[in-house]
Parts: sequence; C-alpha cells; structure tokens
Amino acid sequence: MNKRALATALLLAALTCMGLTGCNDTKTELNTPTYTTGIPATELSSKAFKAKFPSQYASYMKNNESEIMTEYKGSVAYHKNDNVNPLPNGFKNAQPYLKNLWLGYPFMYEYNEPRGHTYAVHDFVNIDRLDSFSPDGKGHMPATCWNCKTPRMMQWVAKYGNDFWSKDVNTFRSKDMVTEEEAISCSTCHDPGTMQLRPYSEPLKDWLARSGQDWNKISRNEKRTLMCAQCHVEYYFTAKGNGPLLRPVFPWDLGKSADACYEYYKKHGVKNAKGEETPFYDWVHAASKVPMIKIQHPDYETFQDGPHGAAGVSCADCHMQFVREDGKKVSSHWMTSPMKDKEMRACRQCHADKTPEFLRNRVHYIQERTFAQLLEAERHSVKAHEAVRLANEWTGEKDANYDALMAEAREMVRKGQLYWDYVSAENSIGFHNPTKQLNNLMVSYEASQKAIDLAQQATKYGISPKLAGPIEKIVPPILEMSRELQQDAEFLKMNPWTKLLPVKPKAPRVWKGQERVDSMGNSMDNSMKANPAM
Ligand code: HEC
Ligand code: HEC
Ligand code: HEC
Ligand code: HEC
Repeated sequence: MNKRALATALLLAALTCMGLTGCNDTKTELNTPTYTTGIPATELSSKAFKAKFPSQYASYMKNNESEIMTEYKGSVAYHKNDNVNPLPNGFKNAQPYLKNLWLGYPFMYEYNEPRGHTYAVHDFVNIDRLDSFSPDGKGHMPATCWNCKTPRMMQWVAKYGNDFWSKDVNTFRSKDMVTEEEAISCSTCHDPGTMQLRPYSEPLKDWLARSGQDWNKISRNEKRTLMCAQCHVEYYFTAKGNGPLLRPVFPWDLGKSADACYEYYKKHGVKNAKGEETPFYDWVHAASKVPMIKIQHPDYETFQDGPHGAAGVSCADCHMQFVREDGKKVSSHWMTSPMKDKEMRACRQCHADKTPEFLRNRVHYIQERTFAQLLEAERHSVKAHEAVRLANEWTGEKDANYDALMAEAREMVRKGQLYWDYVSAENSIGFHNPTKQLNNLMVSYEASQKAIDLAQQATKYGISPKLAGPIEKIVPPILEMSRELQQDAEFLKMNPWTKLLPVKPKAPRVWKGQERVDSMGNSMDNSMKANPAM
C-alpha cells in the first residue's frame, strides 16, 4: 500500500473519530499493545484468556450467535444451493446450480453459508464432504483441510513436518486429537505470551517468505488485514512432483486477480513424463469431463485492490470495530457482518457524515446487482458444460477441426467457471470490490458463451436444438445430493446430471461428527485407538 493512501485513511479515521469521541485513537499508535500474560505459547483454548482479557473474550463468544441474517449474508449455516426451502436449510438468496457446477467433486455433497469462528471445528467434522461412510474409516480428504480450523495445526506441523498434509483428514478427527474448544481461537492470531499479532498459517508464512516480506517490518494496519488472510483466501494443495505433497499454497505469484489465478493454474499440476508441469486441476467435471478449478473464498484478494483495500482500510476496521469500554478502546472480536448492527457503527467510524440507512442502501445497491449477474453467469456455466457434454457424445457429422475446437471449448468451460467462482465463493456479494467482481462475471459469461459456440461449431450445429430454450428445462438444478443419496440408484435417475454419477456401494455410516459409530449408529467409545492411517 502506498504511504499517501495510508496517511489519508488514518487521517480520515482520526478526524471522524475526533467528531465521535474526542479520541486518542489506538489506530494512530504504531503497534498493537503488548502485554505480559504468563499464558504458555502452547495454549489453544480461548477460555484460558478469559481472566486477562474479559472484554475480548466476551465479544469473541458472540461468534456463537448463529441466528441473525442480513439481506444477503448472515450466520445461519443454510445450504448455499437451496433457494427453495426456508431457513435454516435454505435461503431466498441461495444459488440453485452449485451442485451441478461441482458435479463429481465433494463440494456437491454439502456446502453451507459460513458462521462464526467458534463453530469451525464443529461444522468441519459434520460436513458431508468428509467421507463418513468408508469401511476403513478414512475421510478421503487430506489433513491439509485442518489448516484453517484450529491452532492445533502448529503442534501437528511441528510433530509431522511435511508428512502431515498427505495424511488422511480423519486421522485427526476424534476428540482426543482436537476439541471444539480448540476451533479458531486467540492463539490463531496472537502470540499468547504477549498478544502481539503473529501468523501461524503455513501458506501465509510461505507467501511472506516467497515475496521477501519480513513480518516484523509490516505495518500494524496491514497486519490487521493479514491476520484474516491466513484463511480468507484462495489456495490449492501441492500436486505430485511439485514440492511437499498436498501442502497448502496461495497462488499469488502472478498477482491476486482472477486473471492471475487463471494463468497460474495453467501450470502447477502434476509433472508429465517429460518433467513438465501440466495444468493444475481439482477434479474432472462428471458431465462435461473438463478438468476444473474450485476457487475458495478469495475475500482478501478481492478486497485488497477495491475502494477500501486500496485506500488502506483493513478487514478489522469493518469486522472488528473499536468499541469503548470503561474509557478504554478495545477491538470487538465478534467477527461477523457489519450489517447486523442497525446503526452501522463500524462504517460510521469513518463515514460519520452518513446515516446508517444511506450506508446500508449503498451496500444493498452493490449486492443486488452483483447477485443478479452472478446467477446469470452461473446458469451460463451450466449451459457450457451441457454443450461440451453433448458435443463429447456427438456421433453425427463433425467439423474437420473437431478436436481443436473441442480443446478450446473445454478451456473456455474451465475459464468461465473459475471467474464465476471467484465471485461466488467470495463472501461479500461484491461489496469488497464492486468493479472487479462485475468485471469477473462478465469475463465468465463471455468465456462460457464461447464454449457454447465452439461446441456447436464442432458438431456442425448438430447439438444446437438440444441447447435451445431456458437452461432450467434442459438441466434442472440439483436440489439434493449427499454421500448417502449417491448409494441410491433410483434417486440418481431423477436428474439428467445425477444420472451421470456412479452409484456408490451401500455402506453404513462409520463416523458421526467426532465419534466412530457402529452400523447401528451407536458410539464406539474405544474407537480412537483404531484410528485410521496413524
Ligand atoms: C482472527 C484473528 C484474531 C483472533 C482469533 C483473536 N484476535 Fe485479538 N486481535 C486481532 C486483531 C486483528 C486485533 C487488532 C490489533 C491492532 O489493532 O493492532 C486484536 C486485538 C486484540 C487485543 C489488543 C487490544 C484490542 O482490543 O485491540 C487483545 C488484548 C486481544 N486481541 C485479545 C484476544 C483474545 C483474548 C482472543 C481470544 C478470545 C483474541 N484476541 C482472538 C485478531 C484476533
Ligand atoms: C484460521 C482460519 C481463519 C482466520 C485466521 C480467520 N477466519 Fe474468518 N472464518 C474462518 C472459517 C473456517 C469460517 C467459517 C466457520 C464456520 O462456518 O463454521 C469463518 C467465518 C468468518 C465470518 C462469518 C461469520 C458469520 O457470522 O457469518 C467472518 C465475517 C469472518 N470469518 C471474518 C474474519 C476476519 C475479519 C478475520 C481476521 C480478523 C478472520 N475471519 C480470520 C476461518 C478463519
Ligand atoms: C469497508 C468495510 C469492509 C472491509 C474493509 C472488509 N469487509 Fe468484509 N464485509 C463487509 C460487508 C459490508 C459485508 C457484507 C455483509 C452482509 O451482506 O451482511 C462483508 C462480508 C464479509 C464476509 C461474510 C460475512 C457473513 O455474514 O457471512 C466475510 C467472511 C468478510 N467480509 C471477510 C472480510 C475480510 C477477510 C476482509 C479483509 C481482507 C474484509 N472482509 C474487509 C465490509 C467490509
Ligand atoms: C477505516 C475507515 C473506513 C471504514 C471503517 C469504512 N469505510 Fe467506506 N470508505 C473509506 C475510504 C477511505 C473510502 C474511499 C475513499 C473515499 O471514497 O472517500 C471509502 C469508500 C466507501 C464507499 C464508496 C466506494 C464504493 O465502494 O462504492 C462506500 C459506499 C463506502 N465506503 C461504504 C462503507 C460501508 C458500508 C462501511 C461499513 C461496512 C464502510 N464504508 C467502512 C473508509 C472507510
């Protein structure tokens, strides 16, 4: 960030702050306050900090609130594809085609709206993306997923080094490995002994080293953002032959935009026989057979060159606003939507001249338009997959350049969905960077349209009649899908796309949350000793 922008932001904050409170703003101090706590460096539970920091502890516990919704976001963990059922399972502003777009990838089983940090372990061990049905007890996901759920990571990485990542996720699933109390907690962001901000997330530390940045020389304001960039970012897991297997990496070497991401993933896949890097992919789409990228919550990347990020505002300014308690300024640790506050106080620290209604309406203005275009780009991505699927199967007359046209069509399907997902997986529905997100959706739409055009051309327009009309008629949204339903051949026949999935063999549930269960669903208390893959 340039110095002038920072000075402007700080001045703005200081000026408005004077108006509000006649303040000695902690933000104008150079460093986060230092304490001597006597709390050991290995402490993982927030409770241990309660006596020393009652205020921060109390506001952190508000992250347990999981009922309040805003117009587009909020904290009810509803299924993000379900715009049919009411809360708590579905919500009016959900995206109906998510399960279609992730067909064949565990995200199709379950994907929910995020809620407070205190739920991170609970929600993780209960999500259907982890396999709870495999006879060997494995979760069929790498242990890497734990990176953003618990500070216990620090101990696991110390113990196993780079062997940690490729262990099965369920190796660490039971309560004797990690408890719900040890979900994202004080030591995720603070050195317990001094309460200085310090990163624990391996991929962020890797990035700082790779980009030549020294944590001790980074400004306080930037640290107030980078704490969140430990997790609220796009990442991938190292492919075979490219370094420590399945270690998490932030793909920022070419930049933090969707364009940079798209270019980056043209490499970084497994090495081929000649020792060259192939394109990276997360999975192969079950309908179009295109190797796809799943983008994950690029909140930091989106925000950093938006109106606020570029002006030097930090995540904490809006999501951890300063509050006054007993004459002291403390940071609210209720890290949630600033829109839950009727008075929009987080915003009015700086925009003191605006009414809460004005600010709320500005946010909604951006979100309404972004969400409408998001749904359009989403429908078009589905159509692009269907066009390529039809063209893959086409047995009629083909264009002389069929193979080349189809290769380009597949690339455009991948591109269209990547740009859409950059916006879909981002958590602010456009607010963190309105211009960038609308641009990404336009690029997405264009790429998907190109895929549709090329697939038709490759089949000499033979598939065109099958693509005519609204996409909902051709490929209806998949409302329900789970690991259990994939064992039901009759169920899979009900949607033209679930029909394309393999039927899984009937198998009983072997995990319920953090407990191993027998085929009757009863807890097997001593199961921990029989932990898989240890
Ligand atoms: C996700 C990261 C994160 C977590 C988790 C977290 N904090 Fe903080 N904390 C911050 C940030 C960011 C600041 C602001 C630092 C600054 O302004 O320089 C902060 C500031 C503080 C401060 C300095 C005074 C103040 O209020 O600004 C204290 C004390 C503190 N946190 C205690 C805690 C305690 C206790 C917990 C656990 C209950 C906790 N924090 C959990 C990120 C976190
Ligand atoms: C260790 C990883 C990690 C860090 C660091 C982190 N988050 Fe999160 N955040 C998560 C996860 C995981 C969830 C979803 C938890 C769930 O749904 O169970 C989440 C959820 C949220 C939510 C949604 C809360 C709600 O009520 O709906 C907000 C807002 C948020 N984080 C903001 C922040 C901010 C701001 C920071 C930095 C001060 C931060 N996070 C740091 C991992 C992290
Ligand atoms: C200028 C204020 C502002 C800044 C700075 C900001 N955000 Fe946000 N953020 C918002 C608003 C407004 C929303 C939309 C909330 C809503 O619709 O309820 C939001 C939404 C979110 C959500 C989803 C909340 C939910 O209820 O599920 C997350 C997570 C989040 N932001 C993380 C971050 C992170 C991480 C950063 C820094 C990289 C950041 N934000 C910077 C204002 C801000
Ligand atoms: C720490 C100070 C700060 C906070 C907190 C803050 N803003 Fe801003 N805001 C700025 C700055 C700086 C700019 C860009 C320069 C300008 O327009 O003055 C800006 C610009 C804006 C704009 C115009 C750009 C756009 O995106 O359309 C809107 C709208 C806005 N802010 C709304 C909000 C809302 C809503 C919140 C609370 C969720 C908020 N701001 C919180 C400092 C802040």
